[in-house]
Order: sequence, then C-alpha cells, then structure tokens
Amino acid sequence: KVDLRGRDFIEFTDYTAEEIRYLLDLAIEIKGKQKNGVPYQPLQGKTIGLIFEKSSTRTRVSFEVGMFQLGGHALFLSKNDIQLGRGETTHDTAKVLSRYLDGIMIRTFGHHNVTELAQHADIPVINGLSDAAHPCQVLADFQTVLEHKGKLEGLKMAYVGDGNNMAHSLMLGAAKMGMHVAIATPEGYEPDSAVVEQARSIAQESGSQVTVTYSAQEAVKDADIVYTDVWASMGFEEEQKIREQAFAAYQVDEELMKGAKPDYMFLHCLPAHRGEEVSAGVIDGPNSLIFDQAENRLHAQKALMAALMSE
Ligand code: CP
Ligand code: NVA
Repeated sequence: KVDLRGRDFIEFTDYTAEEIRYLLDLAIEIKGKQKNGVPYQPLQGKTIGLIFEKSSTRTRVSFEVGMFQLGGHALFLSKNDIQLGRGETTHDTAKVLSRYLDGIMIRTFGHHNVTELAQHADIPVINGLSDAAHPCQVLADFQTVLEHKGKLEGLKMAYVGDGNNMAHSLMLGAAKMGMHVAIATPEGYEPDSAVVEQARSIAQESGSQVTVTYSAQEAVKDADIVYTDVWASMGFEEEQKIREQAFAAYQVDEELMKGAKPDYMFLHCLPAHRGEEVSAGVIDGPNSLIFDQAENRLHAQKALMAALMSE
C-alpha cells in the first residue's frame, strides 16, 4: 500500500525501508519491461525540469532518457542559462517552475539549495546530488546489489575514501535497509558527524551496524560490497594535490581486496580515476559491477519519477 505521489526525494532519512524497497522492486520490474520491449508510460504529458549547477554524464542522460521512456518530457536547465544563476531567488524559481512542470531534479553545491527548493515548490523535488547527499545513485546501487546478491539485509558494505556525499547517502541508505556499513577515511576527511549519528540511530531500529574507522583493512574485512569514490569531488578540485597525499594509503587495490569476501562486489558511482582511488585491476576486474550500476540509474530513476509524479 505504498503511495509516494507528490513526495520529494532528498535523502533516505525521509523514507521508510518499505518505501525504499517498493522503489527498488519497481525499478527491477520496469527494467524487465524495458528489456522485453513492453511499454511502460505512466507519465504521458508530464514534464520534469533538470537543474544542473555541476557537470554530469549519468544523471543527466539517465533522467532525460528515463523520462522519455516513461512517456514524458525532460528539460535540461543549466543553472547558468536560467535566471537562478543571475540571482533570481530559489523561492521564486520554485514557484514559477511549479506552474509549468510536474517535477524538478536539482544537482547543486549546498544541500540547502535542494531543501529550500523543495520547501517552496508545489511539485516533487528530487536531489540529483548535493555536497551532502547523492541518494539517486544509492537507489541504483541497491538495485544492483539486490540483482546480484538477492538481498540487502545482513550484507556488509565497506566504503573506502572521502567522507563525502556518497559516504553519507550510502551510510543512511544501508542503515535503513539493515545493511552493515563500514566507512574508512583518512583523518580530516571523515563523514559529517551528524550524519553518522543519524545513521547509527536508524541502524538501531534496523539491526545494522555503522562503523567509522581510519583503517581501510578493518572496513573491508569480510565485506560483501566494497565501494569507493573520487578523492576530490566536484567543487574540491583545487584540493586535488593535497588530497592525493592524504588518500595515498586508501587506494582500493588487489592487496586490500584480499580481506573482502571472495565473491565481493566492487562498486563506484563514477566518474573514476584509475590509479588514484581504485586500481585498474579492481575496477576493470571480474568483481566490478560499475556499468550495471550506471545502467541502473536509468531504471531506478524511472521508478522514482513514476512513483512520485504519476496521477
Ligand atoms: N554518478 C553520477 O552521478 O555521475 P554523473 O556525475 O555523470 O551524473
Ligand atoms: N562525490 C562525487 C560524486 C560524483 C557523482 C562528487 O560529488 O563529485
């Protein structure tokens, strides 16, 4: 009896495990339909606006293609090309766009831009990445894990790298779904302590464990899933050199992977830098599912748009 019509999708904290599972099951169902050539077009006549303040390959293409496949239309709105980039307020932008569109996706820097847009918009707002969170990616990641492991609950996911938007959404999502999660970062690059607290309190209900450590080896020990992300996220490019030093001992490579379960899945949201956060041997090796993840962005976001934006 899950009904998500009209809801925003900003972070996993806003959703119950049942609602997330509903979206994942719908994503798998929609993927099956698409593979078998069965049309699924619940969003005919609907339009989504895609606001981008940062670059994107996967998010832009998967939302545009996904909306087309659902029977609707997507508008690419580069922040620099709309008045928002010239100082029109988020409030006014939200009110105006709500008169034309049926949903908005926004990729931005400050997370408050997403929450403020959602607060003032009368239509669903989807977080397509902020500095604090990337829940659309994690939806696709969990779909990929379900497809390969048949479950989420009780698995152990290790994340090695920067305590960034990916670390946050993976932690919160895993805690919701009863998946154990271990985050390993260098000192000074820990995830936001408020998010760790939130994840731990959610984990108490779901029975999962949230670990934060400086030891990549400890995090990866007996992991079913090993995840990493870039050392310098969008907006942190000028710290690239200093981060290369800070993260040098945190590369996900063949040696580190000896501690994971033999059938571990390697995941990365992409874009990736071989020889930095991950060795070519791991990311291009047999346990890597990076392109399944990327594909599932399409299916998971189709499920999300259908659930939030249907009549
Ligand atoms: N993973 C991801 O969000 O990729 P893009 O930055 O290419 O959208
Ligand atoms: N952490 C990365 C993810 C990119 C999809 C960034 O924010 O740039």
